[in-house]
Amino acid sequence: MRAVDLIQKKRDGLELSSEEIKWLIEGYVAGTVPDYQMSALAMAIYFKGMSTREISDLTMNMVASGDQIDLSAIPGIKVDKHSTGGVGDKVTLILAPLVASFEVPVAKMSGRGLGHTGGTLDKLESIKGYQIEVTQEDFIKQVQETGVAVIGQSDNLVKADKLLYALRDVTATVDIIPLIASSVMSKKIAAGADAILLDVTVGEGAFMKTVEEARVLAQTMVDLGKAVGRKTIAVLTNMSQPVGTSIGNRLEILEALEILQGKGREDVTEFICELAQIMLGLADVEKTVAEVRQHIENGAALKKFEEMVQAQGGDLEDLYRPANVSHKVDVLAERDGYIVGLPALEFGLFAMKLGAGRAVKTDELDYETGIVFHKKVGDAVEKDQPIATIYANENISENMLTNFQKNVKIDDVSVNTKEIIEIIS
Ligand code: URA
Repeated sequence: MRAVDLIQKKRDGLELSSEEIKWLIEGYVAGTVPDYQMSALAMAIYFKGMSTREISDLTMNMVASGDQIDLSAIPGIKVDKHSTGGVGDKVTLILAPLVASFEVPVAKMSGRGLGHTGGTLDKLESIKGYQIEVTQEDFIKQVQETGVAVIGQSDNLVKADKLLYALRDVTATVDIIPLIASSVMSKKIAAGADAILLDVTVGEGAFMKTVEEARVLAQTMVDLGKAVGRKTIAVLTNMSQPVGTSIGNRLEILEALEILQGKGREDVTEFICELAQIMLGLADVEKTVAEVRQHIENGAALKKFEEMVQAQGGDLEDLYRPANVSHKVDVLAERDGYIVGLPALEFGLFAMKLGAGRAVKTDELDYETGIVFHKKVGDAVEKDQPIATIYANENISENMLTNFQKNVKIDDVSVNTKEIIEIIS
């Protein structure tokens, strides 16, 4: 076989056979199919798409490109969760311990942030001592003993995705359904959980800009999960504004703690309890949202979170430490009215420029910086009321402030938002 023939085949809109996909993935991981040919193929897939069979072959060959985790030593139905990426997305930090507080084991491997999107690992690493590199044995032991672990993906898991994702990132081929679906599901399948909740983000701050596209991605991933015997449900969630009230690593840990203490914003708390209810259902634990919420109100979920942090070497005193920055700048409302838009992409990029995110993989993060929103879409504001506070370790120029303010959309008529748009199973 020759890669050039397979690129041409895809370029001309034809289907690649199972053998051809296997040959390409194996060759890519072995280094015999070079990056330049793989990027040409990714671009051909971008324009010509893939059939359901091709996506399934791609996914399973990616799974086979590295280790597969065996979680069978942990009793019970193990559930995992994955988000396709968002701004201010601290959901895992709350959801994982909340679900685990119902004795449902959560063994989760998370990723880092890139561009305007944040990553759970970076947030956890803002806690002094928190170890994300954990051996497979210790990972399993921690879930057996504590019921929950959130760690970094081992280097040997889905090697093909590591290479391919880095390549897609620099060749404008990330936002394409066959490649997102195979990337996400190969990691979830290899990570070994019995059941998977997929949070498919939709909107301006997400890869999927429309509900229609997100629905196709969600259904593709659900089908891939089910085909290999994993119970899989996808939830389309709104990413037109940042999740919750903060963007930035330490700031999001603090918001997660507030929610776990029952002091978070009502809408975010409700949203996370709804996701927890679905995740528990995947493990055959049927609870009402009110019952889920009780584990926030009675401190059970917070206790689980603290246990997880301690088990992974995190310092509990540091956990509660406020963000340490040299500049805190309030942004004031320019007029009376209602907040009707807080574009997630713009604020994600703003936070990235403050050091809270990475423009390229090698960028160092400033864990302390970011944004805290005092108002969200749908809230009433009065002129000169603080809408947000910028946490920075540098001077915020007039230009930056104007840019921030310009992105806060205020109107006379309020709008409704809902976090969960649709459930696909
Ligand atoms: N998240 C992933 O893990 N992979 C993608 O391709 C996109 C989002």
